[in-house]
This record gives sequence, structure tokens and C-alpha cells, in this order.
Amino acid sequence: MVSRTVMKSSLLFLCFFIFFTLQLLEAQKPPAVYVFGDSLVDVGNNNYLPFSVEKAILPHYGIDFPTKKPTGRFTNGKNAADLIAEKLGLPTSPPYLSLLSKVHNSNKNMSFVSGVNFASGGAGIFNASDKGFMQSIPLQKQVDYYSQVHETLRQQVGASSLEKHLSKSIFIVVIGGNDIFGYFDSKDLQKKNTPQQYAVSMASTLKLQLQRLYNNGAKKFEVAGVGPIGCCPAYRLKNKTECVSAANDLSAKYNEALQTMLKEWQLEKRDISYSYFDTYAALQDLIYNSTSYGACCGLGELNAQIPCLPISSICSNRQDHVFWDAFHPTEAASRIFVDEIFKGPSKFISPINMEQLLAI
Ligand SMILES: *[C@@H]1O[C@H](CO)[C@@H](O)[C@H](O)[C@H]1NC(C)=O
Ligand SMILES: *[C@@H]1O[C@H](CO)[C@@H](O)[C@H](O)[C@H]1NC(C)=O
Ligand SMILES: *[C@@H]1O[C@H](CO)[C@@H](O)[C@H](O)[C@H]1NC(C)=O
Ligand SMILES: *[C@@H]1O[C@H](CO)[C@@H](O)[C@H](O)[C@H]1NC(C)=O
Repeated sequence: MVSRTVMKSSLLFLCFFIFFTLQLLEAQKPPAVYVFGDSLVDVGNNNYLPFSVEKAILPHYGIDFPTKKPTGRFTNGKNAADLIAEKLGLPTSPPYLSLLSKVHNSNKNMSFVSGVNFASGGAGIFNASDKGFMQSIPLQKQVDYYSQVHETLRQQVGASSLEKHLSKSIFIVVIGGNDIFGYFDSKDLQKKNTPQQYAVSMASTLKLQLQRLYNNGAKKFEVAGVGPIGCCPAYRLKNKTECVSAANDLSAKYNEALQTMLKEWQLEKRDISYSYFDTYAALQDLIYNSTSYGACCGLGELNAQIPCLPISSICSNRQDHVFWDAFHPTEAASRIFVDEIFKGPSKFISPINMEQLLAI
């Protein structure tokens, strides 16, 4: 009898122990998420750029968003920035420019508490990857904006609690695709740089910006490589629906240079941690497994000859499509990537995944 009671109570103890451990694991929620990058994670900044035509503000963009309306996200529903926030139990970090415009309209109170999104469709690591003039917010400018946010927060909460807050926050960086498009759009760039030189220069320019984030308190980074750019429907059109190998080669070279840079940077700065997402491998895996590699929304061959516009046709099985338009993934594809970012094997995410990054 006695031993049974003891066993029961120790079982009970064990259950409580497991329960509280799980609770603790669940509670690993960062105070804030700061997002930098391009259209893969823009949640509406470009809507505030007066001269930009790179805006996702017409149907059928947003058709699967909760509001069923275009929001400035370059996809059918939520994008990776939304889905990461969702998994963390945080609201999506608002577009930086929307906060600025509220300041102009109301009482000069900026609330950056749970993070800010600086990403902008069309943005590159290089200023010059902005197609045309003032179409997007290049990375350097995004980081300038972050520096302003940092200063505002420092005044609001003081240097030491800000330092604590930022050291637990996640800094997401998803950029590089537009620089690769920029290379193939410019004979001049191709003449001046071999693909290898260009890839290394992208990575070292990115490092300067990561360093500026670090100088202003960032410690935990989630950094994505670029996908196989030559396989996006817009490029497949150029090679009888096969992927364009030169663009894939440059994408792979950049990802190599990026990983080397991150490894070296971590050796220099012992107090940073990062998680690198191999968008290339993850997207390739999806493309190989999918029966449709064309765009869901668009017109012409692969639905990629004419952009996704209100007059375009649109697929009904959006769950099964990898690409929403000629350049961007569907919400369904982004959901798979975000699952891999959180829990994925080192084949896709290394040296650690998001769950491990949060636990540090
Ligand atoms: C600004 O907003 C925050 C949170 O919304 C609030 O706690 C704070 O009191 C406000 N400050 C001012 C000066 O209105
Ligand atoms: C990029 O643009 C910013 C302004 O946003 C400017 O300050 C900076 O010098 C430019 N960088 C280069 C390398 O041209
Ligand atoms: C076109 O696709 C084929 C088959 O995948 C590939 O071997 C070839 O290199 C591609 N051509 C270009 C210009 O990318
Ligand atoms: C794609 O197919 C491979 C091989 O069948 C499989 O291991 C992998 O899990 C699949 N990926 C997805 C995202 O379905």
C-alpha cells in the first residue's frame, strides 16, 4: 500500500515536472522581432513609398489573407514574417513606415515594443539593386531606420533595459534575391564582376549592415540564403521552362559566401548567435515534389509572361502551388519554410534552428 502511494505521488511529481518543463519551453518567446529584407517579408512598407510602383495593392494579392484584401504583401495570404510571428505568439511586427505616418498624424508616441518590420519589396543588399529610383528601401537605409528606432527606444526605456530587451530579440534578415536579379539585368555589372566576385561582395556588404545591427544591440539572427533564383517562373520562361543554370549558380555561390561570412563573424564576435536557413535546398525540395512549377496568378506561359494583375487568371488549388506569382512563393510554401526554420534538420537550417536560437 505504502509503496503504491509513494509510486503514485512520485508519478504525480513527474507529471508536474514534465508539465512545468513544457511550460518553460513554451515560454521561450522573444520580446520582439525586427525584420529586414525584401518582398519575401515586406508587410506593407512599400505602400508608404510615394514613387514606388512595386506595391502589392491590387487583387488578387491578399486573396487568402484574413481580410481577403491586398495589404502590400507580395503573396496570396500571409508571408514568412507573419508566419514566424504567429509561431512565436507575437503580433506581426508593423511596417516601420506605418508607424512614422502615425507619428505625423497623432501624438508623437511610437510604440516599437514587440518589434518593427523594415523590409521592402525590391530591396537589395546593394543600393543599386533598387530597380529604377526610390522604388524600395535598400538594406542600408533599413538599418539607418533601425538606428533611429534604437535611439527612440533608448530614450524611452533607458540603455540597460534596452540592451536586455534587444539581446533576447530575434533579428530576421531575408535579402539577396534582388541583387542576383540585378546582376543578370546589368551587362555592366557582369563585365566588372565575375559571379564569384559579385557573390563575395554581396556577403561582405551584408556583413557591414549586420555589424551595424550588432553595434545597436542585436545578438540573435535568423538569416536566410537565397532560393534557386533560376527556377522562379519568370526565369524559367527564358529556358524552355527549365531552370536557368547561371542564375542558380550565382545563388549557390552567394549562399556559400554568406555561410562563410557568418561563421567568421561568429568567431570574431563570440556573443552573437545565428541560424541560417538554406532557402535554396528547401525551395528545391518543394519544387521537385510539386507537379506545378508555374505561377498561380498571372497570364501566358507558366502564368509568368504577364504579372499577377486583376485581369490575370488565378489557380484554385493554391495549397498545391509553390509560386504565387512569377517571383514569390505562396503562403502554403512559406508555411513549410517556416516550419523548417523552427524545427528543421541541419539539411535546411544550421548550425541551429529557431527553437534552439530562442533557447539561448
Ligand atoms: C506611449 O505608448 C506606450 C504604449 O502604447 C505607453 O505605455 C506610453 O505611456 C505612451 N507614452 C506617451 C508619452 O504617450
Ligand atoms: C546607399 O544609400 C544611402 C542612403 O540611403 C547612402 O547613405 C549610402 O552612402 C549608399 N551606399 C553606397 C555604398 O552607395
Ligand atoms: C536550360 O536547362 C537545361 C536543362 O536543365 C540546362 O542544362 C541548361 O544549362 C539551361 N540553360 C541555361 C541557359 O540555363
Ligand atoms: C520531398 O520529397 C522527398 C523525397 O521523397 C522527401 O524526403 C521530402 O520530405 C519531401 N519534401 C516535402 C516538403 O514534401
